[in-house]
Amino acid sequence: MTLSLKNTVLLQEHVLKLKQEKDAIILAHYYQGPEIQDVADFIGDSLGLSQKAASTKAKIIVFAGVHFMAETAKILNPTKKVLLPDINAGCSLAASCSPKEFETFVKNHPDHKVVSYINCSAEIKALSDVICTSANAIDIINSIPKNIPIIFAPDKNLGKYLIKKTGRDLILWDGVCEVHEAFSIKKIEHLQLLHPNAKLIVHPEAKEKLLEKADFIGSTSAMLKFLKQDKGNEFIIATEVGILHQMKKESPNKILIPAPINEDNTCACSECSYMKMNTLEKLYLCLSNESPEITLTESLRKKALHPIQRMLDLSVKKTLN
Ligand code: 13P
Ligand code: SF4
Repeated sequence: MTLSLKNTVLLQEHVLKLKQEKDAIILAHYYQGPEIQDVADFIGDSLGLSQKAASTKAKIIVFAGVHFMAETAKILNPTKKVLLPDINAGCSLAASCSPKEFETFVKNHPDHKVVSYINCSAEIKALSDVICTSANAIDIINSIPKNIPIIFAPDKNLGKYLIKKTGRDLILWDGVCEVHEAFSIKKIEHLQLLHPNAKLIVHPEAKEKLLEKADFIGSTSAMLKFLKQDKGNEFIIATEVGILHQMKKESPNKILIPAPINEDNTCACSECSYMKMNTLEKLYLCLSNESPEITLTESLRKKALHPIQRMLDLSVKKTLN
């Protein structure tokens, strides 16, 4: 059900009022719908959101994103209430890495450091030495001494990109993001013929073949920064379409073309169905009911905290022992 503009504005007003009354902060990822982004206190990529979650003084954190993001916020804030508007908002990449299988995988590679992409469950984080996001993955890998072998999980596309960028021989888990896997290279090539001056900007979760064609590769925040600073006028954006909301706000005079997906499908939109499970109504209800809430056992939280904290510390100083 879509809300009328009047109802959207009314509901947004209720959300803002409740947020203030309850001393809550709304953290939103760029892939959320515009009506959610517009009531957020902070909109960011996974790194920015976890840094914000680590530093907030608010009593309640409402995480407008997917489960692993809200779970990371809870790991960092055991005494705060962390809410997720739809508790079933998962992630195909996180789901591709089961803790039991990953534990065996890690055991089969003794003496390896385990670097896990933040898009994974608390159980996977607990089996890792350090976490990374797309914004800091190269620095995190480079911080590990060259003689130490590394397992990288769960995204094999980001992993292959990191092998190229760092020259390290990473052992990769075989996981993918179904949204970034779905971009159609053929349709993008066709778009490039129609728009020869358009620059192609791509998220590193996309396939190697698409990354090879990119004029710029980066996290969602890096994409926004590139777009703002670049002198070009036309851009093809190969990531989830929600990011166009901030791109249009920050670069209103630039022509933005969302990259198309699926060779034989007429739907051209790259939507993450998990991110879009959160709606403005669910955001309102979750603030009002203070539910659904993220919970996890203290022993799991403590194990998962260590590698996240390591990432946050490394984002300031860049050496890993
Ligand atoms: P960013 O950290 O670049 O925002 O990526 C998050 C994500 O889920 C991409 O699919
Ligand atoms: Fe997960 Fe992909 Fe959705 Fe990001 S876009 S939350 S990686 S399924």
